Amino acid sequence: MKGLFITLEGGDGAGKSTQIANITKFFEERGFVVVHTREPGGTPIGEKLRDILLDRENSEMTAVTEMLIYAASRAQHVGEKIIPALERGEIVICDRFVDSSIAYQAGGRELGGMVAEVNRYATGGLTPDITFWMDIDPEAGRARASKAGELDRLEVEKLDFHYRVYEGYRKISESDPDRVKRIDATRSVEEISEEILGYIDKLLAKQNA
Ligand code: TYD
Repeated sequence: MKGLFITLEGGDGAGKSTQIANITKFFEERGFVVVHTREPGGTPIGEKLRDILLDRENSEMTAVTEMLIYAASRAQHVGEKIIPALERGEIVICDRFVDSSIAYQAGGRELGGMVAEVNRYATGGLTPDITFWMDIDPEAGRARASKAGELDRLEVEKLDFHYRVYEGYRKISESDPDRVKRIDATRSVEEISEEILGYIDKLLAKQNA
């Protein structure tokens, strides 16, 4: 495929949105077409599924149901939006992707290996070219997220859930360091942005080589 698929990951309050805006600007200034999207959601069907997933009234949702709805939203997103954009040679920047399900559903909800399997099916094996894991301690991240507004159904989970999510991300970044870059999210916006754009420069150079 001709385009580039970039994802951002991390716990609550890690500052993903600010960095997504910076990456978008970087590519647009260089004349690329950028598709900025998110999960759960990103398509009309996906956004409806997102409402179900994040609604705090849905406290009876089982862990397996939750995992399957995230995967359903993703399958629609990949088929309707991500693959067509990559085939057109565009830059797809996605706020969360499969790694979120590995961290939150396999890790946080302790569903284990079936999460990766279901997601391989949902995505047809599509993997990002590069992923930035915005690393921030769960407690600090939560404090930032609750300051920013009302917490959703996942965010209100107990702190030990968020530590399992964190552990999930740590394992992903250690097992796939070529793709997943750990970014220390406690630094200034400028420092973080410089590091991320440095990785992107390298990726572009490699693609053009
Ligand atoms: P979002 O608004 O993206 O959260 P944030 O602003 O923290 O990025 O909400 C998505 C929530 O859903 C977030 O708490 C993480 C969770 N999530 C999963 O549990 N599994 C997944 O596969 C995805 C994509 C998100």
